[in-house]
Amino acid sequence: MNHFEYRDQILHCEGVPVPLIAASVGTPFYLYSAATLTRHFQAMDQAFADIPHVTCFAAKSCSNIAILNLFGRLGGGADIVSGGELFRALTAGIDPKKIVYSGVGKTPEELRYALKSGILMFNVESLQELETLQAVAAALDLVAPVALRINPDVDPKTHAYISTGLAKNKFGLPLDQAAEVYAAAQAMPHIEVVGVSCHIGSQLTTVAPFVEALNKVIAFVRRLSANGITIKYLDMGGGLGINYDQEEPPLPAEYAAALKEALREVPGCTLIIEPGRVIVGNAGILVTKVLYTKSGAKHFIIVDAGMNDLARPSLYGAYHRIQPVEEKGQENVVADLVGPICETGDFLAKERMLPVCASDDLLAVMSAGAYGFSMSSNYNSRPRVAEVLVRGDEFQVIRKRETFAALIQGENIPEWEEFSG
Ligand SMILES: Cc1ncc(COP(=O)(O)O)c(C=O)c1O
Repeated sequence: MNHFEYRDQILHCEGVPVPLIAASVGTPFYLYSAATLTRHFQAMDQAFADIPHVTCFAAKSCSNIAILNLFGRLGGGADIVSGGELFRALTAGIDPKKIVYSGVGKTPEELRYALKSGILMFNVESLQELETLQAVAAALDLVAPVALRINPDVDPKTHAYISTGLAKNKFGLPLDQAAEVYAAAQAMPHIEVVGVSCHIGSQLTTVAPFVEALNKVIAFVRRLSANGITIKYLDMGGGLGINYDQEEPPLPAEYAAALKEALREVPGCTLIIEPGRVIVGNAGILVTKVLYTKSGAKHFIIVDAGMNDLARPSLYGAYHRIQPVEEKGQENVVADLVGPICETGDFLAKERMLPVCASDDLLAVMSAGAYGFSMSSNYNSRPRVAEVLVRGDEFQVIRKRETFAALIQGENIPEWEEFSG
């Protein structure tokens, strides 16, 4: 359930008509509903209310500090994957003791920053990363709290690019090596083993792969315990899918019930979850304006948002529902919805029944809150778009549209003598 609805044929975000925001901030822009963000965060968090847990929102899915701040105020933490995301989470006021740090390629500088910030846990993905963390912690005379990320070799049955828990994926440690790395960690004076972590992929639409992975992790935790290694935190990552089109993913309560059932085997462990998409995906849309239309072998609707603003259709062939911002009883036409970028791969929808459009019509690209703005770029030297947050009858720009000056910020023409040949 979300708060994007038509009232008198005009799409509203909560109490605010979308055309009113477009007139004020220009297009394209990302638009988020605070009520939907809150509802989705609480649905996930409260589904685990009866067991010790920390909900660490996956900052990569939507990293605006206003949104991180909202989740922080609701009691959430953050799952981060870079020094930049740590900076965002801390700036947003998230408690460092609720931050977990994932990712296969953390640099020594990033490890130092996170260690000094006093985060809850490093999800370490290789022996070399562990050795680097030990060295960084020793130099600071600190002790790093660590979970090793296990690769359980489970098929999440999702798009290949967002499957992370198969043996052939780059993530985590194979189960048959993990016990040895735990033993090594246990012997390192500046490492404290506190957890086990696992994240098998994104946009999962059934609970079975989560349960399969969790059962493998639990069996492994028991092995560790038999070897005298006690685990405090069990981090099951994120990955719960959403409805973009026809998918019928499990509800947070169903997902939680399945995990809690398996977790009875390891009483005393605190569960960490890292949801991203399920919280923000359907809490945000991308609003774009029709520039031109043309027909030849195909009908094209050319809009002012492109693959640099929303990469998912080009990157994964992802489906986003397209809706008119004003319902005028338009006919539909089979068309490609494309952006201004000089790439044939620049499309938001392909061969879709879309409303017949005229220049200046507004369209809403639905379900764009997750991996939308956060994956956007300046390709074709396009300033990144504005982000707007609605609460009730009010809206606020939470990120200004970038300027041309921002595009060249930090660039420099060398003052070398002219090359004379
Ligand atoms: C380690 C980790 N945790 C959590 C997530 C969030 O996943 P999702 O947005 O599907 O919940 C990701 C995303 O890929 C991830 O890599």
